[in-house]
Amino acid sequence: MKQAISSDFKLGILGGGQLGKMLTLAASNWDVNTYVLDPNPDCPSKTTATDLTVGSFNDYDAVYAFGKDKDVITVEIESVNIEALRKLEEEGKQVFPDTKALSIIQDKGLQKQFYSDNGIATSDFELFETTADIRTAIENGTVTYPFVQKLRTGGYDGKGVAVIKSETDLNLLLEGKSVVEQMVNINKEIAVIVARNTKGEVKCFPAVEMEFNPKANLVEFLFSPAAISEAHENEAEQLSRSIVEHLDFVGLLAVELFIDNDGKMFVNEVAPRPHNSGHQTIEGNVTSQYQQHLRSILGFPLGSTAITLPSVMINILGEEGYEGNVVYDGMEKCMTVEGAKFHIYGKKITKSFRKMGHATVIDKDLESAKKKANYIKEHLKVIA
Ligand SMILES: Nc1ncnc2c1ncn2[C@@H]1O[C@H](COP(=O)(O)OP(=O)(O)OP(=O)(O)O)[C@@H](O)[C@H]1O
Ligand SMILES: [Mg+2]
Repeated sequence: MKQAISSDFKLGILGGGQLGKMLTLAASNWDVNTYVLDPNPDCPSKTTATDLTVGSFNDYDAVYAFGKDKDVITVEIESVNIEALRKLEEEGKQVFPDTKALSIIQDKGLQKQFYSDNGIATSDFELFETTADIRTAIENGTVTYPFVQKLRTGGYDGKGVAVIKSETDLNLLLEGKSVVEQMVNINKEIAVIVARNTKGEVKCFPAVEMEFNPKANLVEFLFSPAAISEAHENEAEQLSRSIVEHLDFVGLLAVELFIDNDGKMFVNEVAPRPHNSGHQTIEGNVTSQYQQHLRSILGFPLGSTAITLPSVMINILGEEGYEGNVVYDGMEKCMTVEGAKFHIYGKKITKSFRKMGHATVIDKDLESAKKKANYIKEHLKVIA
């Protein structure tokens, strides 16, 4: 492979959202040239990438044309055109993660099948073509309440997930091919970010704990390290290692896990890219998830994942009920919080619960960091 740190190397990134932006910023520190493909000419990566090509990462021709002159191609979103990437792979391009892993992860049905085929603990599930089939299965008693229905493709940030507790929730069922999962009695939701490089070296970041916004069903707070036993920490690491090894994966993989009320651990889902549950690594760990992703796909040794200071990450979400040109109200007060680092993604338009930015608070004491993060939640309002 051409030396990644050289003047003529081109890293192609499908997607130019906030994850792409933070990835291009990390690449810029090493003077690695980044080329981004995104349909939005004003996407967050616009100001940070070496160059932005406006086009759809779901479109065969756009992805193929984009990839042709890049040295390595990676993604910041999993819903990309796999056929074009496969053609580029066949022509000798390096695509990390590869299309075999991407095509499994892109489809929540294939993902669940992969876990059960490889003995990786996950909640029981069944695949369905239509909501009518789910209703029939309920009548036959093969599907019982409560359950969680997920569209196999295209979901994100809790969109594409329906929690069905009883018959009265059946109107929430989503039309399309889906997975129906047994509801887990969740005690904690944790995540492990694991990287595997081109030589097969594997490193995991210590587990983090997530707290969800109950209304939006997306992560609001993240705590690093997670308050879990050493046994659970080891189990989470073993599961994460097992997934990357069974997938023969190269790149960064975020593994979302549940610990239930009996202390049993299940894999929920994985994402083949930097992830919301690794934002705090920028300030709270020796190596950030973005640097680690670059190390893993560019042929470098992996960096230390050790925590330097406890941290709390808070997603800065669009205030409910506001839509339009964004205003960050209360920023001045929040800038006084010691140890708070702000990342504003640069999305022009805010919407209810849209991820507009995040803040990470680092502190010697996690409890004190939580108080500071709560202060930010109360005082920073994203309005239009
Ligand atoms: N089997 C389950 N039992 C209980 N709760 C679940 C189950 N599956 C999902 N959930 C809840 O719904 C949330 C969203 O599910 P999931 O992570 O599959 O969807 P997603 O849209 O891909 O989310 P994101 O993009 O935020 O990661 C989970 O974090 C969890 O809180
Ligand atoms: Mg999830």
